[in-house]
Amino acid sequence: MADKPERDDVTGIETTGHVWDDDLKELNKPLPKWWVYVFYVTIIWSIGYWILFPAWPLISSHTEGLLGYSQRAEVRSEIQEARAAQSQFTEQIEAAELTEIRGNPELLRFAMAGGEAAFGDNCAPCHGSGGQGFKGYPNLNDDSWIWGGELEDIHQTIRYGIRSDHPDARVSQMPRFGIDGILNDEQINDAAEYVRSLGGLEHDEAAAERGAEIFAQQCAFCHGENGKGMQDLGAPNLTDAIWLYGSSKDDIVTSIQTGRGGVMPNFVGRLDDVTIKQLAVYVHALGGGQ
Ligand code: HEC
Ligand code: HEC
Repeated sequence: MADKPERDDVTGIETTGHVWDDDLKELNKPLPKWWVYVFYVTIIWSIGYWILFPAWPLISSHTEGLLGYSQRAEVRSEIQEARAAQSQFTEQIEAAELTEIRGNPELLRFAMAGGEAAFGDNCAPCHGSGGQGFKGYPNLNDDSWIWGGELEDIHQTIRYGIRSDHPDARVSQMPRFGIDGILNDEQINDAAEYVRSLGGLEHDEAAAERGAEIFAQQCAFCHGENGKGMQDLGAPNLTDAIWLYGSSKDDIVTSIQTGRGGVMPNFVGRLDDVTIKQLAVYVHALGGGQ
């Protein structure tokens, strides 16, 4: 390394004083003009930017900029616009009858979207993400309804629940024929055989005949003389192929012994009215609405 800048012999240009491998020296050449001009332009640009837009931090705030721009304000106004666009629909849904919502394509589309989202959050854990249900949790896609499949029925079920704590809940409890000793094991067995015969399932003819009598005395009051069920009492149809708790002999015996008594929570008070209406419309449209 040389102490003082020296001139390069060949080009006559001053060197920077940096030397490599004893004789490799760096020439002190100016920056390319284009680069320097771009550099000046960026400086001027940034000064303009500082003046127009929020830029410099101050102790408790920042410079506002002449244009008064704020990302936060922009987001706020976008949210307000989206809310206003939605409130137009939510207000209409709040005021409309359920059948009116179903009859109005625009409202229906909005209600279906809201209902689908709310279903995923609130109902899917019990009824499955597509409403297909699980043992003890009814399928909401089919047209077999325990408590009724009209819009109003579904709406009421969602609002007040089934055997929930709500005073307006749907209640009705099948007796615990086995646990409470109303029927003995043999009678329960016979009744189960009869229930299987109602459902067109394999059964013991003699036992089913005895069971028919028990059914008429103990069960027809709720499930109907023909076993087709009664929606006012939430007593399922026992003649179709749809079983909430299963159709095997054991499942049916357990149903008769314990009375089951599935519980669905009430949603009034947990969800707002508009969301509950959207859910009713959505569930109704899943496939089985009446
Ligand atoms: C904690 C579990 C649970 C949750 C959460 C739940 N349900 Fe239910 N739901 C049930 C059970 C259990 C039944 C059947 C009750 C019975 O045995 O009659 C039922 C029944 C129903 C029925 C009546 C079906 C019929 O055939 O009449 C509808 C409609 C329904 N649920 C809709 C919903 C909707 C919509 C939601 C979400 C807002 C929801 N459920 C959330 C457990 C639940
Ligand atoms: C007080 C009314 C009532 C009476 C009486 C009654 N049930 Fe029920 N039964 C119901 C209700 C309500 C349910 C639905 C329980 C639930 O959803 O958890 C039900 C459910 C059942 C089920 C389950 C159906 C399925 O889809 O899995 C069977 C089986 C059944 N009852 C058979 C009988 C038999 C047999 C008798 C007579 C020995 C009887 N029930 C008497 C109300 C009644």
